[in-house]
Amino acid sequence: MTDLSLSDIPGLVAELTLEEKASLCSGSDFWHTQEVQRLGIPAVMLTDGPHGLRKQAGETDHLGLNDSVPATCFPSAAGLGSTWDRDLLHRVGEALGAETLANDVAVLLGPGINIKRSPLCGRNFEYLSEDPYLTGELAAPLVTGVQSHGVGTSLKHFAANNQETDRMRVSVEVDERTLREIYLPAFETVVTRSHPWTVMCSYNKINGTYASQDPWLLTEVLRDEWGFEGLVVSDWGAVDDRVAGVAAGLDLEMPSSRGVNDARIVEAVRSGSLDEADLDAAVTRVLTLVARSRQAGSEPASFDIEANHALAHEVATRTAVLLKNDGVLPLEGATLESTAVVIGEMARTPRYQGAGSSHVNPSRLVSALDALAERGLQVPFAPGYRLAEAADEPEPDRSDEDLRREAALLATGRTAVLFLGLPAADESEGYDREHLDLPVSHVSLLRAVAEVADHVVVLLSNGSAVAVADWEEQADAILELWLGGQAGGSAAVGLLLGDAAPSGHLAESMPERLADVPAQLNFPGEDGSVHYGERIFIGYRGLDAIEAPVSYPFGHGLTYTSFDYTELDVTAAPVTAETAEHDVVVRVAAVVTNTGGRDGVAVPQLYVGRPHSAIARAPRELRGFDRVELAPGQSRRVEFALTRRDLSHWDVGTHGWALEPGILVVSVGSSSRDLPLRATTQLEAPVLRRPLNDHSTIREWMEHPEAGPALSHAMGDFAATFGPDSPDPMTAAFLMAMPVVKVPLMGMSDAITLDDLDALLARYGNR
Ligand code: BGC
Repeated sequence: MTDLSLSDIPGLVAELTLEEKASLCSGSDFWHTQEVQRLGIPAVMLTDGPHGLRKQAGETDHLGLNDSVPATCFPSAAGLGSTWDRDLLHRVGEALGAETLANDVAVLLGPGINIKRSPLCGRNFEYLSEDPYLTGELAAPLVTGVQSHGVGTSLKHFAANNQETDRMRVSVEVDERTLREIYLPAFETVVTRSHPWTVMCSYNKINGTYASQDPWLLTEVLRDEWGFEGLVVSDWGAVDDRVAGVAAGLDLEMPSSRGVNDARIVEAVRSGSLDEADLDAAVTRVLTLVARSRQAGSEPASFDIEANHALAHEVATRTAVLLKNDGVLPLEGATLESTAVVIGEMARTPRYQGAGSSHVNPSRLVSALDALAERGLQVPFAPGYRLAEAADEPEPDRSDEDLRREAALLATGRTAVLFLGLPAADESEGYDREHLDLPVSHVSLLRAVAEVADHVVVLLSNGSAVAVADWEEQADAILELWLGGQAGGSAAVGLLLGDAAPSGHLAESMPERLADVPAQLNFPGEDGSVHYGERIFIGYRGLDAIEAPVSYPFGHGLTYTSFDYTELDVTAAPVTAETAEHDVVVRVAAVVTNTGGRDGVAVPQLYVGRPHSAIARAPRELRGFDRVELAPGQSRRVEFALTRRDLSHWDVGTHGWALEPGILVVSVGSSSRDLPLRATTQLEAPVLRRPLNDHSTIREWMEHPEAGPALSHAMGDFAATFGPDSPDPMTAAFLMAMPVVKVPLMGMSDAITLDDLDALLARYGNR
């Protein structure tokens, strides 16, 4: 195959026929771009997925029913998000990139960085967090890591793809501020920081327009504002109107449309309804992708499958979140053998990844039982419940009740290590969950075992938050493993035995009740649309705003030691018109100390709040975090720098980021609800004003330093009725809230006529 270099591209675009150009705008099959042999343009392969390579070598069927090549299956994104570990995500990216390159794949289709709007989203296991800042901070190094091998990533699914129900056509009705503050920032961070080779547009519509043909999304925001220079690829089958897509900035349609859309593009250019320059831009980006990947592909590549398995083990160790521990963990190896029993089919048949397009064929798979055996530990086991996905149905003839009885007998007077979680069918790409509960068979097993066991340790395998409120009292310790990838079993055993201490923290809230979840009233929508009525109040932002009790808050995670937070120090610089978006405005420092008896990792988190704001605000929002390894007694000072942008909100009046002056509350601690350090500072910044017009209220006029006195002067004595010295404060408050035009219109006072108001508007309007 001839190689293609970047400098060849303009010449090639000039030589390609219109039909050839149109053909390059979609795949040749499920996973490859189109080739043009006549000009030596090769095809390249794009393939899933976020936490491991899913390269279907033979017949493609899309749903993963055909085997894909063996690859390292890392923990899925729900776990990766819980690491709060930027360096680790970079290393995972490097490993994924090496496997991608060695398999001659040009683009790995991931990471998925949609926000977990509801814990019910069937694909939450593939997404990092409910928080946009955390998502962006973790996805950026992952992308950089993958691309360090000269292969591309595909940042997906752009944008507002937060549910599976009706995902191929639902219209997300979302306001501008919410999009900008919640659903777009992580994409912006990764695009501007890590320059992903491709961005994958989502299936859904946003406010009535398919993402795949939305010029605002794909060109104005992505390219013009954020400077994206890569290629936009459709999610598989996300194209509705291909011609509109080319014009909007969708470069590559995947998979092949079997020529249908090629013909439409040709026809549109011929009829003049599509500008050929738009087609050329798309073709140039496709050829750029091909050229970039050919550069890397020219070198022989390999990867170390054992090293990647070891990394998968390390990552799984760091994804686990210790939700609760009354002191039972860690267990000693000898205690485990003499006093413990392992219960739960998931210890033998691990739930380690999610279903759908991200499903990897693991190079190895270690269950918890395998890991115990590998360590030579003899621990009695009972399956406790049936699991549909269990290999060869090991307990085909036994009922859950029977298995439960057997498990309880075994657990009597011992420490029960219980593997519970969501069966594979409960969460998958393609559909959403309907509740947060574990299967009845799992909870009944826990209750039966808790009645007779000395201690109960629960290990959870699930890809999204589950309800624990009804049963957690019966567990002495709970370790959330998420979907831990191919080495999840050995990681779990290592954590139980204290080889390593848990260091994960929740990247999503664990609410007590589904009814408290802010999006619940509008999830998943109906009649083709879903209204994001909860606006910015997603996850902890909303739970905190309504002061809903949670089982475990966002950011929570225990370990085998304890930490103290002291010496908060906050300094704020005044913001002026000259302060640039990325200039530091507030500096925060705090000291973290390991106050326990074992080594441990603290994850200090910084939240900001803006009480008394003129706009709706969450009580606090994450704006910084660190990961600090500390020996017993050791302290470390952590520092955070907040830029003007970090402290800004999206102002719908000016359609831009704006920093509101006033009180800033800075809190530091170990979760969104455990913030021992808190300081208040005053942010000095120019007052934000909406341009004045005749429907601005009297208050808005009065707040303007020049227009206020002018209005007051024009109104003469009447101004005294609403001024600060008004004899009747109730009337004053009433008047201050009225649009100024109502005073002459309603004849409230002869002091000002419509002509007087026009004169004021001529001078102060729009200022
Ligand atoms: C998924 C994408 C995936 C693509 C290719 C789609 O159904 O939404 O995330 O990358 O298929 O498998």
